[in-house]
Amino acid sequence: MNSVISVRASVERMRPYHPPLEGRTGKLRLDFNENPIGCSPAVRRALARLTAASISAYPEQETVRKQAARHFGVRPDELLLTNGTDEALSLVVNTFVEPADRVLLVEPTYAMYRFYSELAGARIVATRYGNDMQFPWNEVIQQLRARPRVLFLPNPNSPTGNLLSLRDLRRILEAAERSMVVIDEAYFEFSAVTVIPWIRRRKNLIVTRTFSKTCGLAGLRLGCLFVDCGLAAQMRKAQSPYPVNAAALAAAEAAMKDRAFIARTVREVIRARRELQTGLAQLGVRCFPSAGNFVLACFAARAKTIVAALERKGILIRDRSSDFGGEGYVRITLGTVAQMRRLLRELKAIV
Ligand SMILES: Cc1ncc(COP(=O)(O)O)c(C=O)c1O
Repeated sequence: MNSVISVRASVERMRPYHPPLEGRTGKLRLDFNENPIGCSPAVRRALARLTAASISAYPEQETVRKQAARHFGVRPDELLLTNGTDEALSLVVNTFVEPADRVLLVEPTYAMYRFYSELAGARIVATRYGNDMQFPWNEVIQQLRARPRVLFLPNPNSPTGNLLSLRDLRRILEAAERSMVVIDEAYFEFSAVTVIPWIRRRKNLIVTRTFSKTCGLAGLRLGCLFVDCGLAAQMRKAQSPYPVNAAALAAAEAAMKDRAFIARTVREVIRARRELQTGLAQLGVRCFPSAGNFVLACFAARAKTIVAALERKGILIRDRSSDFGGEGYVRITLGTVAQMRRLLRELKAIV
């Protein structure tokens, strides 16, 4: 049946984004860069303490916002709590991007930058990582001269795993004085490179963080956005009044306090990275250096078969070949060393 009311042209033009969202329960999920170790037991205790009164009331976030500000070393008026990083990205687009404005990306990268920008009717300017996953400096600097409204840049990047140094980031910010630059630090805990302290000096800088990775709260949807306080006030106007739910707020409080869980996760993931990279090398599989909780590997023509065979064994990894012109790249999330050994055993049997 034809609809009486047409959808917006930008929606009509979009290709559907279909990550595999169902049927993952009970499997070893190494496909979405979650925390396969789980979350802190303190988070589960905090959720069990939620009362009918706190669940039935609209959530109040000021206490947690202040606590998060202390945790991240900023003032509360420089921080917005968001419904995952995804809401922070959407908020950036809603605040700064008019239809037909240019948004600069370095692809392959996190899909939601393109998603929200296309939804807003922006023009995407996509530069690309090189064959060895080098950052395309010349193209990026050249495109910045044309003053795109926003540059989205995750550091480290997913799926490539690249990390830009503080020196690199300074170079980008200096070339981007007329653009908003979003540095998405979703994987900060694994890389230890952050530009949060720069937000006071650089009014065109936005930094985002998430509780989905190291803290293991992907199912509760919680992120943070850091920006100069003047812009934070403007962005808050574009945000709905209750973006973060009561369960996520209670969990965040407990997650931030349990620094030992975060440190344990990071230690385990770094050991798991070594285990996986060594194991892949022994199998003759090329993989790239990564500063995140994942590794990009090239299985070339065998990628599809291997991903499907592992799935039959209850192990999910992410086929990213479509990001690389069909070239057989997969992204593997790092979990525990034991989980990596299980994956490598199965891989050996398949290969
Ligand atoms: C670079 C990057 N940013 C953000 C996210 C998602 O964060 P959130 O779960 O907080 O929306 C991901 C998830 O994979 C990611 O890779």
